[in-house]
Amino acid sequence: MGVESRGLDTTRDDQGNVDAKLACVLETIRTRRVTRYFKDVAVPREHIGLVLESARWAPNGGRRRLNVYIVVQDPQMLRNVRAVSPGMLPPPPPAIIVVCLDVGRAEALGFRYREHASAYVDIGTAVQNMLLTAHALGLGAGPVMSFHRQAVQLLLDLPETIVPEVIVKLGEPAQAREVKVPSINVNKFTHWERYGG
Ligand SMILES: Cc1cc2nc3c(=O)[nH]c(=O)nc-3n(C[C@H](O)[C@H](O)[C@H](O)COP(=O)(O)O)c2cc1C
Repeated sequence: MGVESRGLDTTRDDQGNVDAKLACVLETIRTRRVTRYFKDVAVPREHIGLVLESARWAPNGGRRRLNVYIVVQDPQMLRNVRAVSPGMLPPPPPAIIVVCLDVGRAEALGFRYREHASAYVDIGTAVQNMLLTAHALGLGAGPVMSFHRQAVQLLLDLPETIVPEVIVKLGEPAQAREVKVPSINVNKFTHWERYGG
């Protein structure tokens, strides 16, 4: 058993009508790539608002909503965060959103976040929504996990209970990138009904 990778031109029904919603979702997913170099142009506030809103729509375990978001646009603060983030190439992007885990709230809810991965899965679902929304807005974006957590915590005045987990970079890409969409054979890493099936 198996499925063929569906190309962008296969989002049509039997009558040849394009399924616009499916085509739009797949196109956005398939053409998103990380951006590492940005133009020195501010990100419109309403775009940041939409990216944050999409994070809040992400699925989250037990509807606990343990994520906290810190938006940084101040150039000096961006340079400081960049300086403690080996995973962020210089110069810093015009905006970042630091996605944090509110471990104080997790503890208050009696949720043992260290024993269950779901709090970290929540970070991932939120970040993916953010990256896709940024891409749909024509922004470049990318996640960074290679950064010094305590240094970022100090720089942003975060209390001990608010732990930075992922930095999402945002901005206009420095150069337009032609995105080649490779065809992927999902059967290589998928098993049906049981391993090996
Ligand atoms: C958990 C995670 C951590 C990442 N950390 C970094 C990082 O610190 N710096 C960076 O430049 N990219 C980082 N990335 C981006 C990946 O390098 C990138 O997604 C991967 O190379 C595939 O490229 P694409 O997203 O353009 O398809 C990270 C991605 C994930 C999912």
